[in-house]
Amino acid sequence: MLHRHTLAPLAHLSLLVLPLMAGCPGPSDEPFPADYETSWTEARTRCTLSHDHELRYIRVFVNDLALEPYTTQDVRYPPGAALLKAEYDDPDCTSLIDYVLMERLGPGEAPENLEWRWERYDTERNIMTDRRFEPETCINCHVCHCGAPPYGWQLTCPEGAPEPDGGCI
Ligand code: HEC
Repeated sequence: MLHRHTLAPLAHLSLLVLPLMAGCPGPSDEPFPADYETSWTEARTRCTLSHDHELRYIRVFVNDLALEPYTTQDVRYPPGAALLKAEYDDPDCTSLIDYVLMERLGPGEAPENLEWRWERYDTERNIMTDRRFEPETCINCHVCHCGAPPYGWQLTCPEGAPEPDGGCI
C-alpha cells in the first residue's frame, strides 16, 4: 500500500514532464529518430511503387500516435502523430533518395498548413524543405489526392485508398 501511494504521484509527474521535454529544442531534438526502422512501425507494404512520383519506391513508417489513424482510418490523428515516407530509387529499396515527413500539430497551431507540419529531408536527415514552394505543393497534392474518405484520411493517403477520378497534378 505504501508503495502505491508514493509511486502514483511520480507516475503523474512523468506524464506531465516527458511531453514538455520532447518539445524542447536541443541536440536531441531530431526531426525523426535515426532508428525509425525499428522504433516506429512500418505501416504499409514494404517497398511499393509510389503514386506520387513514378519510378520511386517507398516505405512508410509511423510513430505510435499515428498507427491507428493511418491503418484504421477511423480515429483522428492526435497532435504529435508523425508519418515518414522514405523514397528510394530501386525496387528493393536499398538506394535511399530522401524523406518526407508529416507531423500533426495542435489545434490552431498552423491553420494555413491545415494543422500539419510538412517537411522534406535528405538521406542524412538534414532539412531540405524549399520554402518557396513547400509546403504548398505538398498540401495541394494531399488535399486533391487524399483529402477525404475513401481517398484518404485527414490528408494522409493510406494503403488501398482509391485514386481520385482524374488524378492529381
Ligand atoms: C504529386 C502529389 C504529392 C505531392 C506533391 C506530395 N505528396 Fe506526399 N503523398 C502522396 C501520395 C499519393 C502518397 C501515398 C503514398 C504514395 O503512393 O507515395 C503520399 C504519402 C506521403 C506520406 C506518407 C503518409 C501518407 O499520407 O500515406 C508523407 C509523410 C508525405 N506524403 C509527405 C509529403 C510532403 C511533406 C510533401 C511535400 C514536401 C509531399 N508529401 C508531397 C502525394 C503527394
